[in-house]
Amino acid sequence: MASRIVPVGGTIGIMGGGQLGRMMALAGRAMGLNAIVWDPQPIGPAHEVAGDAITAGFESEDALLRFSEGIDAATYEFENVTYETTARLARIKPVFPPPDLLYVSQNRLREKDRARQFGLATTTYRAVPSAQEARQVAADLGFPGILKTVSGGYDGKGQIAVNTMEEAGMGFQALHGSEPLIYEKKVAFIQEMSVVVARDQNGRIAIFPASENHHDQGILDWTVVPARVPDPIQQLALHQAAAMARGLGLVGVMALEFFVTAEGELLFNEMAPRPHNSGHWTIEGAWPSQFSQHMRAVAGWPVASPRLFGPCVMLNLLGDLFLEGLDKLTRVLEWPGVQLHWYGKTAMRKGRKVGHVTVLADSVTKAIQRARDVKVALGGAWHDGA
Ligand SMILES: Nc1ncnc2c1ncn2[C@@H]1O[C@H](COP(=O)(O)OP(=O)(O)O)[C@@H](O)[C@H]1O
Ligand SMILES: [Mg+2]
Repeated sequence: MASRIVPVGGTIGIMGGGQLGRMMALAGRAMGLNAIVWDPQPIGPAHEVAGDAITAGFESEDALLRFSEGIDAATYEFENVTYETTARLARIKPVFPPPDLLYVSQNRLREKDRARQFGLATTTYRAVPSAQEARQVAADLGFPGILKTVSGGYDGKGQIAVNTMEEAGMGFQALHGSEPLIYEKKVAFIQEMSVVVARDQNGRIAIFPASENHHDQGILDWTVVPARVPDPIQQLALHQAAAMARGLGLVGVMALEFFVTAEGELLFNEMAPRPHNSGHWTIEGAWPSQFSQHMRAVAGWPVASPRLFGPCVMLNLLGDLFLEGLDKLTRVLEWPGVQLHWYGKTAMRKGRKVGHVTVLADSVTKAIQRARDVKVALGGAWHDGA
């Protein structure tokens, strides 16, 4: 196998062509790393900034060989990359995070089981193999609950709220595919929080401050740092993120999502072995960014202890805001402390992330107010709720 240390001027292969791949490639370029994208789609946000792109499904033998020949190390930017492909690639070139982490994250049952193994408290959950058992599990665990597909879900997709045994049965029929589902007790959280942790090949760990996350219809709407969560709970989350990173043998960046309850409980929800939407604030709000940190680790370079520059809000921009064009977009740049990120997607669709805005301000309150001004100026509604 080639050296695990990629020289400056080397090439990182990125599996997937979305915005996370784009921001990985941009961060890599700044440090002298080239990128080759492997994506089933012929165009995408990452393609624009990569040196080269291979368009093929992840099961293609030929693509695997061509990809592996052009790169020094590989990573993946979304979790629907076929695990087997990453495992096979890892026998030819280094793949980070190690494919084991992809395997764990591809299944909600597995990731919660592993989290518990490392001492993290999770939501109450159980596997649901049949409609009959859906009713029973829901009755056992209690209402309200949520039925979720174990794999393939994102942005709240593949989830159904359940309030009665009948709904549990119907929900199972609606969601069920070839795998069992998972039933989770709905958590009455007061805050959602996430932590992005980086770990390098030498086992050094670097953690970003926790972010407070606000969702709208299952999609991340905005994130604020520092999180308005009591410090001991934040410290516990950082500690747990480090335990997971160490326990799973992370190399690269990983995100953990948590719920915080009124009783001060911290419950692990899910993890992603890659840079995360709730960590986009780090591009302006911290040094290094989560993408820079990720590329450093993938290249076999050291990760750096992050510095936080100050209060910061990340506001997601969905296609909904731009169905009639992009004219309004540059208006938001007139405010101080506001930076635009645009992913270059060709179609503006409802519920689709097409860019984000970072707001830097002197206080959390001012950063949130400005993010709200930005959202309203773009014709969107501001959602304050957790
Ligand atoms: N057990 C739960 N209790 C309360 N809210 C939940 C629960 N599971 C999910 N949610 C809500 O739905 C959002 C998306 O669910 P999540 O499990 O993170 O899936 P994904 O982000 O992969 O779509 C969460 O951020 C949270 O707002
Ligand atoms: Mg989530």
